[in-house]
Amino acid sequence: MLRSLVLILVGAVALSAADDRKESGDASSVSIFDGVFTEAQAERGKTAYEAQCATCHGLDLTSDSGAPNLVMPAFRFGWHRRTIAQKLEKIRTTMPQGFPESMSDQEYLDVIAYILHFNKYPAGDRELDADQKELLERIVIEPLP
Ligand code: HEC
Repeated sequence: MLRSLVLILVGAVALSAADDRKESGDASSVSIFDGVFTEAQAERGKTAYEAQCATCHGLDLTSDSGAPNLVMPAFRFGWHRRTIAQKLEKIRTTMPQGFPESMSDQEYLDVIAYILHFNKYPAGDRELDADQKELLERIVIEPLP
């Protein structure tokens, strides 16, 4: 009797631990492949990029002025395994070169959406949103398959 009670308790603890794992897994995993920006956002970002970034980084995200390219293979070193929040922070505080923090967080995110779109990451039905900082910290820019 005692033995089966112990077994039931052990089973219950194991089950609830599995539940916890599942919940925290769900909450923390937002895949870059799920469509984390929209076509419309990438389009807005394209306009901002062409006005604020293209003189140095190139209209096709390939630079002929010495600024880093924002496509593969250079993209791998600057972007892979970073979170959207990390890229936002880096770009916001350094770009456009000479005029950091001259755009709103939302405009920087629109430009990031454009750069991701240009690199063939899929668009979806939600936007990268400056008011969702925690979510931005959880989206990791995994390499495309
Ligand atoms: C006046 C030229 C110039 C402009 C305009 C400019 N950049 Fe840059 N950018 C550079 C240079 C030079 C570097 C490399 C040195 C450095 O990191 O500061 C760089 C580095 C970067 C990097 C780091 C490399 C990487 O792949 O992570 C990113 C991202 C970037 N720029 C994005 C942008 C964005 C987005 C804009 C527009 C909002 C922009 N830049 C505007 C010249 C420029």
